Amino acid sequence: MKILSVVGARPNFMKVAPIRLSRANEEASEPIQHVLVHTGQHYGDLMSDSFFNDLKLPKPDVHMGVGSGSHAAQSAEIMKRFEEVLLSERPDIVVVVGDVNSTVACALTTAKISFGPSGTRPLIAHVESGLRSFDRTMPEEINRVVTDHVADLLFVTEESGIKNLLKEGISQEKVHFVGNTMIDSLLAFQAKADSSSKLDELGLRENSEPATTNSAVARYALLTLHRPANVDNPDAFHAILGGLEELAEEYPIVFPVHPRTRKRIEEFGLNLNSQPTHGRTERSRRARNGLLLTEPLGYLDFLYLMKHAAIVLTDSGGIQEETTCLGVPCVTVRDNTERPVTVEKGTNIIAGTAKEGIRDAIRSQLKGSNDASIPEHWDGNAAERIVDVLSRVRQQNTVRV
Ligand code: UD1
Repeated sequence: MKILSVVGARPNFMKVAPIRLSRANEEASEPIQHVLVHTGQHYGDLMSDSFFNDLKLPKPDVHMGVGSGSHAAQSAEIMKRFEEVLLSERPDIVVVVGDVNSTVACALTTAKISFGPSGTRPLIAHVESGLRSFDRTMPEEINRVVTDHVADLLFVTEESGIKNLLKEGISQEKVHFVGNTMIDSLLAFQAKADSSSKLDELGLRENSEPATTNSAVARYALLTLHRPANVDNPDAFHAILGGLEELAEEYPIVFPVHPRTRKRIEEFGLNLNSQPTHGRTERSRRARNGLLLTEPLGYLDFLYLMKHAAIVLTDSGGIQEETTCLGVPCVTVRDNTERPVTVEKGTNIIAGTAKEGIRDAIRSQLKGSNDASIPEHWDGNAAERIVDVLSRVRQQNTVRV
């Protein structure tokens, strides 16, 4: 059996790694050959290569090198190049993860391919299926809906995903509640992440307790922002920064800056009272309250900072889940979430994007108790369940088109 997994953007790597590396691959009744394809949507050491090292993920077998572009241009280029990859690799199953442009482009290409006179195509497996923000202005929501509706196997991370898929008329037999492969990675790597020296490099060591103590006592905050709705519009970006002012008086706020956000900061001429930190400058900086900008961080360094932060502020999807698992208070700077379990379990507040809402959510999180529980199946075994299903459905073979 040949499984081809697709990665493209930063949040894909930690979701695919456990599937690619699962012990279940060796235990399957039929030998499994894995092919890893990188579309190149994200590129360079900081956004891509360092994750392969940190996650011990073998280098991609095929690198498509697509790079950045408008949604249409990027998706079209991925589809053109992925079609050639499919025709030469002829896998039995294509695994796509998450909700980025690479996910939908590769799923759509696979749905329409036909392998010669046999008229078959690979099965399409979508990992992290069924999540819905119900906000169709988000490109990711479009990607999620389209991918789910062409997929043959839908692997769900939380119960809301099952309900959403059934409501959309997707047949129950395609849906498998397996848990969260991103959490598999977190659980596998959190001990290793504890040897990160990032806090020392940022001059923040005195602001945190030793690595073994509860994260709630640490005295720095961690911020990520990259959603177009938040950073592409100067008014929206300003409102968010306004919501952080009170927190910034009390805590240093570490802000690893996504390339999209970096561009906007420069374009809008925002003075964030802190210069990007590099090499020696970074190491020699003394921490102070306010924003502390850094380059995007590697997987282990970021996991470490997340685990020991007093609070995390974010517009990412995955970080809402990782903080839930770590029991770290999270304020989501968005109007909605496609991951409601993170709110139900008590670690996450959806603050909206207005200044006052963000400030109030931060106050409430810093005061609140931390009695969160771990969502069902977020136990480090999601990838094993997925590989198990893949090897069983393989008996039913590929799809005739
Ligand atoms: C993409 C995903 C988003 C995910 C995010 C994680 C889509 C629609 N969006 O958003 O769901 O949460 O990744 O980071 O797929 N750039 C670089 N280097 C890179 C990649 C991007 O400099 O390695 C810059 C380019 O200028 C590019 C911009 O960032 O135009 C945006 O990149 P893109 O991949 O289009 O979307 P993201 O905002 O990263």
